[in-house]
Amino acid sequence: MALYNDGHPARERAVDRSYSCLRDLQQHDPHPRFREQYEEFLEEMMARITLSFIDSAEARPNRPTGIKVGALGIRGETKEVQAALDTPVPVATMSYSLGEEAASILSMHREVQERGKLPLAEAEAVVRSLSIAMHGDQEMILPLLQLREFDEYTTTHSLNVSVLVMALAESLGLAQQDVRTFGIAGLLHDLGKVNIPQDILNKPGKLTDEERQVMQEHPVAGARLIIESGRRLDLAAAVAHEHHIMINGKGYPHQHYPRDCHKASKLVHVCDVYDALRTKRPYRDAWDAQRVLAYIEERAGTEFEPAAAGAFVKMMRKVEGGIQLSPMPPQNDAAPARAAAQGNGAGPVSAAGDGP
Ligand SMILES: [Fe+2]
Ligand SMILES: [Fe+2]
Repeated sequence: MALYNDGHPARERAVDRSYSCLRDLQQHDPHPRFREQYEEFLEEMMARITLSFIDSAEARPNRPTGIKVGALGIRGETKEVQAALDTPVPVATMSYSLGEEAASILSMHREVQERGKLPLAEAEAVVRSLSIAMHGDQEMILPLLQLREFDEYTTTHSLNVSVLVMALAESLGLAQQDVRTFGIAGLLHDLGKVNIPQDILNKPGKLTDEERQVMQEHPVAGARLIIESGRRLDLAAAVAHEHHIMINGKGYPHQHYPRDCHKASKLVHVCDVYDALRTKRPYRDAWDAQRVLAYIEERAGTEFEPAAAGAFVKMMRKVEGGIQLSPMPPQNDAAPARAAAQGNGAGPVSAAGDGP
């Protein structure tokens, strides 16, 4: 519901699906139908869940519905009631397939390819939806979708980097408005790849010099696309431009006058490399989480800003304790390093960096 405006079929489907679950529950105890109020009730719930995220201007005024919401009081406490109260309530977890968000990104990319313009409202809606999902379910912090096809990579990678950078920004105590702005920058960091031919993006072997040059144009192309799409996206444009620049000045695009990158670019850089290395690509296997975190730690101070790398590794280690990381395909331990070193560029950086 958070992803679409009033009247959108996907939104109607969500309400219908949820309403039919409710009707099933009511089968033995029929009550008056209240489909309209029910939709308003869902909106009210959504606003409550996401209040910290939604701008105050966007917050909906309380609309009275026929459904009462609030804490439940129990009168006349008996032993049974007390026993029921003492029994721990199982915690519900939600799981998200993110199919709608992935479809939204695909259509966003298509629009950029066809019209050269970014549909900003859609990008914002995807980030809002990701943030809602993140706060409802810890598992969202991890790489989200298992890839079925390689050409889905750009879509899932955008979603993953967006979620990871929002979680990282949140763990650093940034304000919600900044968290969301960083999330949009994460979502759009590789936008410049929309016009790179698939056979270069997914080439199983080493790129030629010419192909690598095409690949390495994506930061500038992305920043240009974002700037041309208009207002309020200057941070996303900066991140698109800077996300392959290392703190030692290496990486690309080449800086004629070395300067510090924006904090958001440094955070996106870490998240970008993490997600890229965790994902199986045509030119190398996926790395397991521990290995990627060790890689990030090792390169803190040369490739990554130490504070950004340290916070990211700390966050992911904490999360890993309670949550299963996405299953890894069995692999020959020596193979990924070799494949990464060959990469589709030069060295592990481009295995992580050209690929993402
Ligand atoms: Fe990139
Ligand atoms: Fe990337």
